[in-house]
Amino acid sequence: MNDVIKRTHMCGTLNKNNINEAVVLNGWIQKRRNLGGLIFCDLRDRTGLVQIVFNDTIPEELFQKADKLRSEYVVGIKGIVKERQSKNTEMATGEVEVFVNELVIYSEAETPPIYIKDDDDVSENLRLKYRYLDLRKVKMQRNLAFRHQIVKSAREFFDSEGFTEIETPILCKPTPEGARDYLVPSRVNKGQFYALPQSPQLFKQLLMVSGTDRYYQIAKCFRDEDLRADRQPEFTQIDLEMSFVNVNDVIEVQEKFMKKLFADVMNTEIRLPLPRYSYKEAMTRFGSDKPDTRFGFELISLNDTVRDSEFKIFKDALDSGGDVRGIKIDGGAEKFSRKDIDKLQESIKHYGAKGLIWIKTGDSETTSSINKFFTPDKMKEITDVFGGKPGDLILIVADKAKIVFDSLGFLRRDIAGKLGLLDDKTYDLLWVVDFPLFEYDEEIGEFSPVHHPFTSPRLEDVDLLESEPGKVRANAYDIVLNGVELGGGSIRIHDSKLQKKMFEVLGLSDETVQSKFGFLLEAFRYGTPPHGGIAYGLDRLVMLLSGEHSIREVMAFPKNQAAVDMVSNAPSAATEEQLEELGIKISIEE
Ligand code: AMO
Repeated sequence: MNDVIKRTHMCGTLNKNNINEAVVLNGWIQKRRNLGGLIFCDLRDRTGLVQIVFNDTIPEELFQKADKLRSEYVVGIKGIVKERQSKNTEMATGEVEVFVNELVIYSEAETPPIYIKDDDDVSENLRLKYRYLDLRKVKMQRNLAFRHQIVKSAREFFDSEGFTEIETPILCKPTPEGARDYLVPSRVNKGQFYALPQSPQLFKQLLMVSGTDRYYQIAKCFRDEDLRADRQPEFTQIDLEMSFVNVNDVIEVQEKFMKKLFADVMNTEIRLPLPRYSYKEAMTRFGSDKPDTRFGFELISLNDTVRDSEFKIFKDALDSGGDVRGIKIDGGAEKFSRKDIDKLQESIKHYGAKGLIWIKTGDSETTSSINKFFTPDKMKEITDVFGGKPGDLILIVADKAKIVFDSLGFLRRDIAGKLGLLDDKTYDLLWVVDFPLFEYDEEIGEFSPVHHPFTSPRLEDVDLLESEPGKVRANAYDIVLNGVELGGGSIRIHDSKLQKKMFEVLGLSDETVQSKFGFLLEAFRYGTPPHGGIAYGLDRLVMLLSGEHSIREVMAFPKNQAAVDMVSNAPSAATEEQLEELGIKISIEE
């Protein structure tokens, strides 16, 4: 065992200003090259790499010791910073190198199963299994540090606005956020289960009843749902709630937060107020409730133009109350071959679309998949609705409204990606407001809340609750960044009569309501302030601002696609004794 030599600098921070300084560094050997009388190593810590040199002026014993160094050995060195002869412009410290005069080897290392290199394209499961090695990569350390900066900025902001950070329970009752719960069996109360919180929703509302007034928390949330690049079973929210507020009050505070955050961590000034789109406008213009407005390709309705058409696809869609809409890709005729369009058509089957109609406008001739069903004049009328110029590509979907919006919403973003129009350096931050309060599930023939059952309807729509629930708008808002839902919230119902009506529309019996949320409803009987709040997905926020494409890149120990923690290999079987203590029998065959 060697005593630690106290470092004076971090590896990645050395530059020309340090020339001729004596420095002490600690870190990992990235790689070693022995060129006869000279040994070069790259030394790495979380801030970056610097080249260290052992030359023939040092004692033979030290040179021999240096020759033993291998990748990932942990060392301390003392040395003098010199200007580098052959500068490395790829490296932040590439203008200098450190001539070593003392070396301490703290620990040796076996050959690691993955390269510690930012752009190593090894399988993600292997990266996750050896996450502690993966996290040695400078990029990963940068991501973790960046995440910390975001949390720090959030804490500073909410503190300065009079919010109190309060922890809420992890072992609790199910929260109504719509995903499956993770259940934890109770030993003391055999046969009973806690649920891990999908969000602190119910507790933050109780905090408002308790007079806390302004609460926030960096909160761990758990949802058992299918995983995607922007979803994890265990994730973190920046969660907050405020009393005596309306929609504008909540949004105003959030916009101030965004302004500070972007200034702090991105060095970017964002202009306020942020654009606000109603849900209806977002859907009709962009085919999405999380519109990406960094590029055009807006949806255009053909309903009026083709209303009298006998063309079966259009007629069927309109006769059954559906829609005919399309998008125009400027200059797209050349860029998308028939084969490409077939692939686009394939990609929207997933949304239920039966087909994709295309029109390529030319100088003299317009080609399309529907030419034979329309006169040239009618074709011109259709392309004119889009403002089509020679060389454009028009893509049309005719179907139920939801299928049309979902398909075109997907296509416009997919095509923008293919055409390189999704600029990671542009921050397209906006609000979507006036969501519908309920959505109708045709399969089960029931309404369910779009957000959660405590979201208040807009006051002017309350009278429609019983007669036309599908038309009621919610006092709910989502904040969207570059087409990703960053956060969502609402003003809550604080009136127990209104809450009761909500449950009735949702078809929840008194018994169900009592057993699920009885404690909250009881609390509301003792004096409840009007309140509302929002929660941001912290992982998504860090992902978008760091330019990553998966939240797994900005979480220290994420789960893989099969919800497995590859490092510790959780979940795993419980022992017989544990199961017995919990009163649980496993019925699945091995
Ligand atoms: P909501 O369910 O919209 O609202 O969640 C808020 C934000 O949390 C993030 N998020 C996720 N991030 C990673 N993995 C997941 N599985 C995941 N699920 C959600 C998203 C989302 O916008 N209690 C309400 C908030 C409120 O009403 O105040 C809630 O949880 O970025």
